Amino acid sequence: MNKFQTFRVYQEGTEVVSRLESLGLDDLSSGDILIKTAYSSVNYKDALAATGKGKIIRNFPCIAGIDMSGHVVESNDDHIKEGDAVIVTGYDLGVAHDGGYSEYVRVPAEWVVALPNKMSLYDAMALGTAGFTVALCIQRLEENKQTPELGPFVVTGATGGVGTFAVDILSSLGYEVVAVSGKTESHSFLKDIGAKEVLDRNDIKLDGTPLEKGQWGGAIDNVGGDILSWLTRTVKPWGNIASVGLAGGNHLNTTVMPFILRGVSLIGITSSGCPTQYRQQLWERLATDLAPKHLDRIVTNKVTLDQLPSVFDNMLNGLTIGRTVVEINAD
Ligand SMILES: NC(=O)c1ccc[n+]([C@@H]2O[C@H](COP(=O)([O-])OP(=O)(O)OC[C@H]3O[C@@H](n4cnc5c(N)ncnc54)[C@H](OP(=O)(O)O)[C@@H]3O)[C@@H](O)[C@H]2O)c1
Repeated sequence: MNKFQTFRVYQEGTEVVSRLESLGLDDLSSGDILIKTAYSSVNYKDALAATGKGKIIRNFPCIAGIDMSGHVVESNDDHIKEGDAVIVTGYDLGVAHDGGYSEYVRVPAEWVVALPNKMSLYDAMALGTAGFTVALCIQRLEENKQTPELGPFVVTGATGGVGTFAVDILSSLGYEVVAVSGKTESHSFLKDIGAKEVLDRNDIKLDGTPLEKGQWGGAIDNVGGDILSWLTRTVKPWGNIASVGLAGGNHLNTTVMPFILRGVSLIGITSSGCPTQYRQQLWERLATDLAPKHLDRIVTNKVTLDQLPSVFDNMLNGLTIGRTVVEINAD
């Protein structure tokens, strides 16, 4: 096979640099399944990895991209056949194993999820890790008895990839969604995709007593830091907080009071480490009862591999809205 295009990240001295590079199949990380990539996507973690602003990549050089969808072209596994449409997200993809920003990806068979019947390869990457993470949050919240009746449900970092899907999907499930965003110009967009109310992140009082008035039935938090501390103080008895992200910081100052006096639960979410046996079920839910209603509005940007660098800095500066799909061998 001729060489093909990849977007690869190098460590050069103390610098992390990334660039387009033509590679051959022999250059790719090993695995049982070779997939021709149709689409990938851009997540916050991809932006941290490709710019070196986060210590994400563990094996240099590494093709970036923590998500991909495509068709199997070679398989050494009895359950996965040539021609199958598949999704790969998380595990070590784009972190310690060559990732989805490449025309071909080779991975272990256990990383491969079959594309659900009602989902296209494009939709799979419009959702990507962001959508999958929201499905995982909802599953964990439901297992811990979260219901719309517990009260208004907060989504922080609401205009981001995870945030927009959380707003859309939770509102369809009957939750009264309160979106927290730093973008005043996006309030009407957030209401269009399902938010009942939008709070300006800059209006939130970030210092408070260990227990303030309980206001929220629960929350999905993409921001961490002081906003997550505020959530622990203001979620009502028996509510759950799914801790997803650190866009605002990785610290957490709180006390045991919300946990021992209100029975509040802090649920850790790790999509890359999600056990294999849950993944197919969560993707099936994203094609059925958790399918977002506003996918077209949530995808705000489509790029090719050579356009990737234009996305990363805006994302890390909190300026992007919704999702960016990477078109590689588009349908
Ligand atoms: N645990 C997991 O499995 C998992 C999976 C996926 C993502 N994540 C993490 O979840 C977070 C969101 O990921 P994403 O892909 O949705 O990223 P994204 O699209 O860049 O969204 C992040 C959003 O957070 C808000 N934000 C940005 N900078 C902020 C700051 N300094 N202070 C407060 N809010 C800020 C912005 O929303 P507003 O302007 O609307 O406030 C921004 O749109 C990231 O930290 C990511 O690493 C974790």
